[in-house]
Amino acid sequence: MSDVEAYPQSMFSLTNHEIFVLTAHHEGRDNGQVATWIMPATLVPDHPRIAAILSPQNYTHELIALSGRFILHMLAAGQHQLLPRFGLHSGRDRDKFEGMNVWRTPTGLPVIEGCCGWAECRIVTSLNAGDRIVYLADIIAQELQAGCTPLRKRDAFAVQPEDVRIALEEKHRIDGERDRAFIRTFEE
Ligand SMILES: Cc1cc2nc3c(=O)[nH]c(=O)nc-3n(C[C@H](O)[C@H](O)[C@H](O)COP(=O)(O)O)c2cc1C
Repeated sequence: MSDVEAYPQSMFSLTNHEIFVLTAHHEGRDNGQVATWIMPATLVPDHPRIAAILSPQNYTHELIALSGRFILHMLAAGQHQLLPRFGLHSGRDRDKFEGMNVWRTPTGLPVIEGCCGWAECRIVTSLNAGDRIVYLADIIAQELQAGCTPLRKRDAFAVQPEDVRIALEEKHRIDGERDRAFIRTFEE
């Protein structure tokens, strides 16, 4: 099992999240990041809405905050190479889409091909917890690839080359230490 668990000594170490990539676009700039803290946020069938917990330190977040929109992609088994591409570095330092096939929604957002599904999301509200921002976003367009098997975190880590896996684990640790400076405690 990978070392990249938020709380290794707790029941959350038993989870095995699907891997998502969020892409964003604002005034000619594109970027994307890996995210796992994503979930449905309403039961109302004709008003789909999701919750996403994002770091405001990420470049992707900068574009999302400016545009109010993003595309959520659920990665498919076999797309494990997208984990380091979108989750190990910042788009401030490189073009994460280089050499990839993407198409654009009418709103200009980049959509990655070959995923289990994608959803265009428009932010409706947020909670700023300092280290993370909890977004609620309405799904305004979406597509599902029937019969697709999602890529899950443990499988995605298990097939990475060792140096990549170690680099991902180290980034996770460093990001956690970085976030100490930002987390809000909300005590009275
Ligand atoms: C398995 C995995 C899960 C992640 N989950 C999240 C997440 O839920 N929210 C988040 O903000 N960042 C998450 N990240 C971290 C970002 O993907 C990572 O910091 C990325 O490099 C940010 O890139 P950017 O600066 O180009 O936006 C995750 C990374 C990995 C490897």
